Amino acid sequence: MATATATRRTAPDIGIGREQRERVAQALARVLADTYTLYLQTHNFHWNVTGPQFAQLHALFETQYTELAGAVDQIAERIRSLGERAPGSYREFGKLTGIAEAEGEPAADEMIALLAKNNEAVSRSAREALAAAQAADDEASADILIQRMQQHEKNAWMLRSLLER
Ligand SMILES: [Fe+2]
Repeated sequence: MATATATRRTAPDIGIGREQRERVAQALARVLADTYTLYLQTHNFHWNVTGPQFAQLHALFETQYTELAGAVDQIAERIRSLGERAPGSYREFGKLTGIAEAEGEPAADEMIALLAKNNEAVSRSAREALAAAQAADDEASADILIQRMQQHEKNAWMLRSLLER
């Protein structure tokens, strides 16, 4: 009984039912895991990129991983605002994410292609989560997800443009 009372007292009363808050939080958790995995991959490539485009790619990857680091915080805190627990370990992220880790030591062009593909994948995850947020009339989560789609689609465009001749 103590637990039920505590749950009632601490559950957010924001006009979205518990089941829908849980559903949106689960979708946000997948976007969080994808974003964190892409963050780490982008940082990895910032460190390990080589070749004649080194300076340009080292700087571009830094701009992108810095933005992603801010985004994971925003997504995780939205999950908490919905009254749910935010995943925050490599084990949890590994189970939730659809983004594969890079194999071996990719060349600069392979890094660019992988990051373009994975930014597109995170945008697709955000679009799926947006459907859950809209079904719950959760405009605050939808707002974050629309911003994430805009950013990932812009990142992917910039990366794809580097591969065009
Ligand atoms: Fe650095």
